[in-house]
Amino acid sequence: MATRPIGIRPDQQPEHLDQCRRCVLWEAATQAVPGAGPRHAPLMLVGEQPGDQEDLQGKPFVGPAGALLDRALDEAGVDRGQVYVTNAVKHFKWEPRGKRRLHKTPAQREVEACHYWIERELAEHDPKVVVALGATALKSVLQKSTVKLQASMGGAIEHEGRLVIATFHPSYALRSPDAATRESAYRAIVEAFKHAHQLIQKYPK
Ligand code: URA
Repeated sequence: MATRPIGIRPDQQPEHLDQCRRCVLWEAATQAVPGAGPRHAPLMLVGEQPGDQEDLQGKPFVGPAGALLDRALDEAGVDRGQVYVTNAVKHFKWEPRGKRRLHKTPAQREVEACHYWIERELAEHDPKVVVALGATALKSVLQKSTVKLQASMGGAIEHEGRLVIATFHPSYALRSPDAATRESAYRAIVEAFKHAHQLIQKYPK
């Protein structure tokens, strides 16, 4: 008989996020981090997973990547208060490095297990436009593990009645080693937000 480590139950259909045991990430996280923003917001932003600050505060994008996100939204003329912000994976995956908790990229099986929650959020809020921040978010939103981020950028992708715009993850614009890459990634994020904003004006709900 196939065995599975205790704690992994991809078939589980929990009602509340804090009960989720669909993968093992809950074990090392402080808490699950739900999405935040108004119900039925026309724009949904999807990140990868909570970081250290998000894990402690229980809110998405409140750490350094969130500060960059806020700046880019502001520059694009988008009010964060009108946007629903969430993550492909709801628990912080990390490894210890001295006293710090270092981010670890979630495995595809963890992204798939957590897609259960994204689907519920999409159904509940029914956004017109979804901006996928980085490759993990894009794979989750399109439900396609082979999709490539760079090849998907620059236009809107129609998916299940919505428009999906792919761009870099804010952490890439924050942590890339050279300044020119950081700046061009930041500009691409701002352009993606402007594009999303234009589409929402053009095709109101
Ligand atoms: N990075 C993410 O992808 N999401 C957050 O909420 C914070 C950092």
